[in-house]
Amino acid sequence: MIENIWPLPILETERTVLLPWKLEYAEEMLTFAADEEVIRLSSGWKLIDTVKKAERKIKKYIDGKENEWAIAIKQNGENKIVGHIGFNREQLKLSNYKIFGFDDSGGDTDKSFIGPFGYSLAKNYWGQGIATEAVLRVMEYAFTDLKTDVMTIYHKNHNARSKRVIEKCGFKFRDILPKNKTSDPESRAYYFLTLDDYAKLRKMK
Ligand SMILES: CC(C)(COP(=O)(O)OP(=O)(O)OC[C@H]1O[C@@H](n2cnc3c(N)ncnc32)[C@H](O)[C@@H]1OP(=O)(O)O)[C@@H](O)C(=O)NCCC(=O)NCCS
Repeated sequence: MIENIWPLPILETERTVLLPWKLEYAEEMLTFAADEEVIRLSSGWKLIDTVKKAERKIKKYIDGKENEWAIAIKQNGENKIVGHIGFNREQLKLSNYKIFGFDDSGGDTDKSFIGPFGYSLAKNYWGQGIATEAVLRVMEYAFTDLKTDVMTIYHKNHNARSKRVIEKCGFKFRDILPKNKTSDPESRAYYFLTLDDYAKLRKMK
């Protein structure tokens, strides 16, 4: 069952603030959500090209208490919304995640999973390390505050930028699915990271 954290905390990094969505951010959502290229690469998003549509999306987040933040850049003392980041959170048996190579040999206990994990940014802000900064902050929150056991993430197979973000954040590649359709632009490359992996990454820094 999907578990939501409510209220979501505001998370901060050096250059960004991750803000739980509010209706008043609807117009700013269009900076990335009305861009066809961004939406084509994003997972689970449809084009949002009017404030009304953006308000409906945000209302769904609020009503569903979804784990979704707006990514804002700190600019001249203000927060400018340029993207989104969010995830699902579930308690599941490891064997539900066979794709990630987990099995029930060590006892099929419940683990807390976060994933899939999604994010997008307005094009003007690509290539400055902003997505990586936001993803690393959410990973810290998930592993340190929420004591998550495993995080999973995927990108569309040909999405080289997202692939690079995932690699920079230390996720481990698992598989591309469906296996016989790896040239299909909708095929997905899956990755995961366990709490132990995360602790090792932190020690290395
Ligand atoms: C994916 C996305 C969020 C990345 O945001 P970003 O802030 O530009 O990411 P970062 O700057 O942290 O990292 C991007 C990396 O991709 C690299 N990159 C850029 N263009 C690339 C290309 N054509 N091929 C391979 N790598 C590329 C950059 O050099 C950088 O890596 P580096 O730091 O090693 O140099 C952004 O491109 C986006 O919103 N894309 C559309 C939506 C999307 O794809 N969402 C992800 C769904 S899973």
